[in-house]
Order: sequence, then structure tokens, then C-alpha cells
Amino acid sequence: MSKNPLYVTKSFLPPVEEYTERIKAIWESGQLTNQGTNLVELEKKLQDHLAVKHLFAVSNGTLALQVAFKALELTGDVITTPFSYVATVSSLAWEGLNPVFVDIKEDDLCIDPAKIEASITPSTSAILATHVYGFPCDVVAIEKIAAKHNLKVIYDAAHAFDVTVNSKSVLAYGDASTLSFHATKIFHSGEGGAIVTPHADVAHKIGYMRNFGHNGPEAFQGIGINAKVSEVHAALGLCVLPHMQTIIAHRQQATQQYDALLSNLPNMRVVKAGIACKHNYAYYPVLFNTEEVLTKAVASLNAASIFPRRYFFPSLETLPYVGHYEVPISRSISSRILCLPLSAEISEAEVSEVAAIIRTALTS
Ligand SMILES: Cc1ncc(COP(=O)(O)O)c(C=O)c1O
Repeated sequence: MSKNPLYVTKSFLPPVEEYTERIKAIWESGQLTNQGTNLVELEKKLQDHLAVKHLFAVSNGTLALQVAFKALELTGDVITTPFSYVATVSSLAWEGLNPVFVDIKEDDLCIDPAKIEASITPSTSAILATHVYGFPCDVVAIEKIAAKHNLKVIYDAAHAFDVTVNSKSVLAYGDASTLSFHATKIFHSGEGGAIVTPHADVAHKIGYMRNFGHNGPEAFQGIGINAKVSEVHAALGLCVLPHMQTIIAHRQQATQQYDALLSNLPNMRVVKAGIACKHNYAYYPVLFNTEEVLTKAVASLNAASIFPRRYFFPSLETLPYVGHYEVPISRSISSRILCLPLSAEISEAEVSEVAAIIRTALTS
């Protein structure tokens, strides 16, 4: 009998009874969307859980970025990272903003603050940095540069749910942070996302911008879009949230097991956070010395029905709709990086099998 395939991740599903209870209540109320009771409850609980000032749930992490750019009134050039998921950059281009790429650091693969200033021009309005794999960017260095040049700072925190730096949520930094609650993320609502900001005036704008610009049933405050969250999605988020501690604890255990089995292998290293933080174990990225070694390891894993993910690949300066940039570190890293299977359900036996296959691929 062939075994079940093991993918890079598996969505956490709460006990179905917990979800059906909420769905029954939605059926009774008849309200499916438009800031329903589940959404109001989810936003309040997320705000408390993450200890952030203003939080707005939206329908996905891409719209979270787009609404944040609009609310912060970005213009012209935005300095960003080529090592992220495509949504970081496609959302800029979609909003008519020009991504300007600055290369990343070799250690944690986040944008390199030491290289940002050389790319600032009078057209630059903001820095958009990604907390890659939930590893926090050097938020202190980035915000020092932004303050000096009067730039806005937005963090793509799609991977950074429940990550803390200096004993506070990493989401508390910058002018705004955006989250993704896609099914593959550690906290999810099937599809979903959120925008966090410390500023009351920005919060006010996000409030109407995510709902067509309405500030009353027949009134409009300004331009808006439909970034609303349905009750069905909010209910799923509410069922996942109470399990976060268990989800992260299991992922931490699997991470420690991988660490023990994969340290000291030739031609490969495990990628870790560059600055001190309480991490969420959202991904398990490993970096091979060459693309050839990566290809060999992937082929061996695939032969055993194990499907890791080349994430992030390709490096985003290769997109057909951006300018020409030389970012050699991102280009090289993206050709050699692999995220290994990790989930709230992965078993000890599965981690052992993945590690053993990689060990054999690298040492034979
Ligand atoms: C870094 C990053 N930014 C943005 C997004 C977009 O989020 P969503 O899929 O919820 O639109 C993702 C999703 O994978 C992501 O990984």
C-alpha cells in the first residue's frame, strides 16, 4: 500500500464540532457578512492576543498590503526586498507603486538595512520589509533610517503571527504591519488577513477603505475596496485561535527534532532568526551550498512522496514587470533554499524520514 504524500505543510483543522456550533449560530442569525458578530469577536480577540493597538481583519494578506499602502498614502518608489512571496511586490505594482529592490542579509534572509540608504531618492516614500519565515527584520535599524529620511515603514508580516521582539509583538513596529490568514499559515481562517497600525488616523482610514469607502449606509468618506471578511471565515479563525499554543508547541518540537538530525551535514545549513525573538516555528528553511545539491535532495524526497517547497523562488527582481536590479545574494539564496515539511500534525517518524533522506542525498 502506498503511503500518504507529505507536503510542505498541512492546514490545522480544529475539531469539526467546534466549527459546526458556530456555523449553526450563523444559520440562526442569517447574517453571512458585513461586520457580523463572528468578525467583531475575531478582531477583538486577535487584538488582545497579539497585544496591538488597532487591528482590522481583511479578506486576504494581499489586500491587507494594498489597503495599507493606500491608507499610508504611499507614492512613487518603495524600497523592498526581492526575497519574499510575489504578493509583496505584485501588490506594490498593482497600486501603481515602483518596487526598488535592496538585497538581503546572508544570515536571516531579511532586507539588509546597511544597503537601504544608498537606494533612497527624493521619489522614495516608504520601506516595505518582509519578516521572512517569521524571522524579524532588524526593526530598530530600519526605523532609524526611515525616521532620518521621513519615510513610512510597512512590514509584510504574513509569516509573523505570534512572534515577539523585545517582549512585544513584532507587529507593533512600523507604521503598519500586514498578516495573512491563508490556510497554509500557522494561524488561519481559510482565507484572510489583517492590518495592524499604531496610528489612530491610519486606523480610521483603513476602517472605511476596506468597506468600499462607506462611513454610513448611504455615505462615503473616500476611496475604498471590498476587503471584507465573511462570517464563515471569521468563524473558522475563531475556532483556530484557541489552539495556537498547542500548534506552536508541536511545531517547536518538530523543529528541535529537525535541528538535532540536520546539524553538521555537509553542503547545507539550517536558516535561523538573525535577531533575538520568541519565534512561531512557521517554516523550516534549509539552505544548500548549490542548486545542484538542492535538486538532488528534492528528487530523493519526491521519490518517497515527500514534497518540500522551493520558497521563495524565484527571486522577485526576475519578475517581468519590475525594473532591472542586481541583488546577487537574493538571487543566489532563492536558487538554493528549501522549506521542509512542518505542520501542527507532523509526526516524529515523518521528521526522521525527511532528515534521513536528506542525509543520504548529501552524503552519498
Ligand atoms: C510574505 C507573504 N506576503 C503576502 C502574502 C499574501 O497573502 P495571501 O495569500 O493571504 O493573499 C503571502 C502569502 O503566502 C506571503 O507569504
